[in-house]
Order: sequence, then structure tokens, then C-alpha cells
Amino acid sequence: MISLIVAMDKNHLIGKNGWMPWDNKEDLKHFRNYTMNKSLLVGRKTFEGFKKPLPHRFSYVLTHSDMNIDDENVKVIHDIQEVIDKFKNSCDELVVIGGAQIYAAALPFVDKMVLSIMDGDYEGDTFFPDFDENDFEVESVENKESFRIQILRRKETI
Ligand SMILES: NC(=O)c1ccc[n+]([C@@H]2O[C@H](COP(=O)([O-])OP(=O)(O)OC[C@H]3O[C@@H](n4cnc5c(N)ncnc54)[C@H](OP(=O)(O)O)[C@@H]3O)[C@@H](O)[C@H]2O)c1
Repeated sequence: MISLIVAMDKNHLIGKNGWMPWDNKEDLKHFRNYTMNKSLLVGRKTFEGFKKPLPHRFSYVLTHSDMNIDDENVKVIHDIQEVIDKFKNSCDELVVIGGAQIYAAALPFVDKMVLSIMDGDYEGDTFFPDFDENDFEVESVENKESFRIQILRRKETI
């Protein structure tokens, strides 16, 4: 199973200067809870924004370069298809955690999206890629103090 988690504003903004446009502890807690003990797919730029690999999670880091990361919970990969094939029909969940380039590459394979839609107006430079909302149905909506969590599930196709 392949899922995706992202925090965006109403204009689909997700990033600013290599980090998030907002500082929202409740959303970071939600991200931590959702991803805990799962496998993650992350782009090289987003990975480098972390101080260290996210604990208690296994990270597949996508890059074109031959970077080496000496951590038993990190694997550098060059071909997204490698992890897509591993998780697509598996009960184990791969969570795509961005950034924009990785969301764009993974979107065609994603079964479920966990969106945090932030209240307020922000500025930034990185946006979630366009996708066809008709391909997904809203499974649930949960209101938090300064954002809402919307879970989308890909519609079944016969
Ligand atoms: N709001 C959120 O929920 C959220 C979540 C995650 C990230 N973000 C934000 O998004 C921004 C970063 O996004 P980004 O799009 O600039 O970078 P990114 O997606 O994190 O990483 C891009 C890098 O991934 C590698 N890559 C991309 N496609 C590849 C492919 N098909 N094969 C192999 N490697 C590939 C390349 O690495 P190399 O250059 O090394 O080849 C590329 O430079 C930051 O501001 C971050 O804070 C926001």
C-alpha cells in the first residue's frame, strides 16, 4: 500500500526556502504519529532539511547522485520504481513524505492521501503538484485548531 502525507495551504503551497512555510507543532505531531514505524519515501532535498534521519522509521532517499548515508534505517535509491514495486501490492505501507518532486513522481501510484489543509495565508516557493481530484474520494475530515486533516482514497477502477 502506498500513501502520501502532506501539509499544504489552500493554494497548495508546501515549502519555503527548503523548509515548511509555517511552524505548526500540532501538524508535526500528526505527521509523527502517522509515519511512526513505517517506511518512508523522501526526496534528497527534503531529507537534507532534517537534522538527522527520522527515528523509528525507515527512509528510502531518492537521488540521482551516488550519495552515501551511513545509517541502517536509510537506503539511498535512484529509481522510484524499486520501492513502488516493493510496496504496491503489499500490506506494508510506504508513506511518501515529499517534497514536490517526489510527490509528482509518486502520485500515479498513491492509494491514499493524508492532507493537512492549513488555515491562514502564507508565502513560499514550492507547491504540491496538480492532480485530478476526481480520481479520489474523501474518506474523512477531521478539524484541528489551525488546520483540517482530509483523507482521500483513490477510487476503485474496474
Ligand atoms: N508541506 C509539506 O508537507 C512538505 C513535505 C515535504 C517537503 N516539503 C518542502 O518541499 C520542499 C522540497 O521539495 P523539492 O521538490 O524542492 O525537493 P525534494 O522533492 O525533496 O527533492 C528533490 C530531489 O530528489 C531527487 N529526485 C527527484 N526526482 C527523482 C527521480 N525521479 N529519480 C531520482 N532522484 C530524484 C533529486 O535529488 P538529486 O538532486 O540529489 O539528484 C532532486 O533534486 C522544501 O521546501 C520542503 O520543506 C514540504
